Amino acid sequence: IPMRGPATARGDSLDGLRDAAANCRRCPLWEPATQTVFGEGPPDAQIMLVGEQPGDSEDLSGHPFVGPAGQLLNQALQELGIDRSTLYLTNAVKHFRFERRGKKRIHSKPQVTHINACRPWLMAEIEQVNPKVIVCLGASAARAVFGSGFNLTRDRGRWHTLEDGTRGFATVHPSWVLRQDPEKRDAGYQLFREDLRRLKEPPT
Ligand code: URA
Repeated sequence: IPMRGPATARGDSLDGLRDAAANCRRCPLWEPATQTVFGEGPPDAQIMLVGEQPGDSEDLSGHPFVGPAGQLLNQALQELGIDRSTLYLTNAVKHFRFERRGKKRIHSKPQVTHINACRPWLMAEIEQVNPKVIVCLGASAARAVFGSGFNLTRDRGRWHTLEDGTRGFATVHPSWVLRQDPEKRDAGYQLFREDLRRLKEPPT
């Protein structure tokens, strides 16, 4: 389990980090993307949610989890009685990676090089917010936070401990739920929501 990274230059506050990340050139994803989508939420949030990367809506709006995946996340949080505005929401990769097909921009999975290039921002966010609990949505986020050995199928929904003592767990990504065949989608959603229910219990 990797240690938290050093805060980057100008990384003495979340606002400083956000400003610096707006001009990030650590990987090539900045160029076709509209903007950096940095994390958002209370700077002293107890819970941090880490997704994979912004999607089309997030890229255009500049805010994390505002598109279809964000709507599904909202539904699950609402059903669990968890107030989204108390959470710090961010992503392992802060630029939208996509392929153009005509006028459409099709989401394409970030590579390990993109995740590694972006990792100092995530580590600096974790350092600044210092959450009690980190929830990773999907395998990319889980590997970025818990290390490359993380196996989502095997390890989802189980508490883990980072080197500095922060607790966390991973669940499936809401976009994965949305990609399921209609007859499997409800089961996928239940899995997602029931893993998130851990947020209502003390870590074990
Ligand atoms: N999916 C993510 O992983 N993050 C977002 O911000 C939106 C969709």
